[in-house]
Amino acid sequence: MKYNFDEIVPRRGTGSVKWDHCAPGAIPMWVADMDFKAAPEILEALQKRLDHGVFGYQLVPDQYFEAIDGWFTERHGWSGLKRETIVPTTGVIAAYSAAIKAMTVPGDKVIVMTPCYNAFFPAIRNNKCVQLGNPLHYENGLWSIDFQDFEEKCKEARVLLLCNPHNPVGRVWTREELLRVGEICLRHNVFVISDEIHCELTYPGHDYTPWATLPEAMVLNSVSCISPTKAFNIAGIQIANIFAADPAILAKMDRAINDNECCDVNVFGVTALMAAYNHGGAWLDQLREYLLDNARTVYCFLEDHLPQVVASPLEGTYLMWLDFREVIGSEPGASERLASVLERQGGVKLSTGTIYGPVAEGWERLNIACPRKLLLEGLNRLSQSLPLQ
Ligand SMILES: Cc1ncc(COP(=O)(O)O)c(C=O)c1O
Repeated sequence: MKYNFDEIVPRRGTGSVKWDHCAPGAIPMWVADMDFKAAPEILEALQKRLDHGVFGYQLVPDQYFEAIDGWFTERHGWSGLKRETIVPTTGVIAAYSAAIKAMTVPGDKVIVMTPCYNAFFPAIRNNKCVQLGNPLHYENGLWSIDFQDFEEKCKEARVLLLCNPHNPVGRVWTREELLRVGEICLRHNVFVISDEIHCELTYPGHDYTPWATLPEAMVLNSVSCISPTKAFNIAGIQIANIFAADPAILAKMDRAINDNECCDVNVFGVTALMAAYNHGGAWLDQLREYLLDNARTVYCFLEDHLPQVVASPLEGTYLMWLDFREVIGSEPGASERLASVLERQGGVKLSTGTIYGPVAEGWERLNIACPRKLLLEGLNRLSQSLPLQ
């Protein structure tokens, strides 16, 4: 093993949202960043840029677009990512928020597949749109899209805000599922904004399908929001890109990120992105193996010590979606109460399930992107907190 993901890097007191917004002594397994150092290849590039010592306003160089194009073509069979089809921005939230702004007028309806990433909700609200939930279907431990409900919602919606792969249920949508979504959207003139920030974090047998590799009509009816920040653990550096195949749509995106004043990118974001896409492949592959072993550790632990808690199969992301309903039921407030007790008394902080939508009552989200020793300590604390046996 070339990289050491077992190293414990102290983060408390560094201004980390994950660690410093967490009860004293508790292990934070909530907000979606990882407790690993970034790849040495990225650190080296940042150090070199730092050593230059001048950090004026940053142009986005050709090499930036070449790095994106090279990575996505080689890794994901997605070509066509060029300066002419991309607008860089400060983050994926900024990206999809600008896209909503560009493609809607106040009062338009935006579909989200719930439970879904919690920062989707304010972006819809802040753009004066109305959220339409399309609850995912859960049966025999598996999550799927309720296409019948989706088509009904499309009859009144203007935009679908898709999460591909999906946070928090951990699904990596298949090409077939995306094609079905795309056909329904075309039929009802619903524009697709695909948030693909988790695209690198997939596990064997579950390949990521970029929305932009679907048939042309579907691609022209969409934008994709991508970033290396989640997979390479550089979320605090903040950089992202909006892809649109249709130049008229791209011009609207450009207008919207200018209106929102989020069109200037960070010096270090540009450097980090190029280092990640040009030199981060080996680190990422080893990380994915480590995370897969962490997920297996969770499955085994739950089976042995907490059989009443059921983990949804993790196809992608490092966020495990846990069903606590057998333990806490699904009455209003159940998720929040459990998360609060776990943090304050149990010494482990999970994300409250219902922040991803009220449909998630009785669920919690567990971030497993940490050294195995911390993960096991967190799991032990979880099992000691729950009077289950
Ligand atoms: C689906 C999804 N989109 C966007 C983000 C945040 O993106 P950014 O930090 O680039 O704004 C997250 C962070 O967890 C996420 O899970």
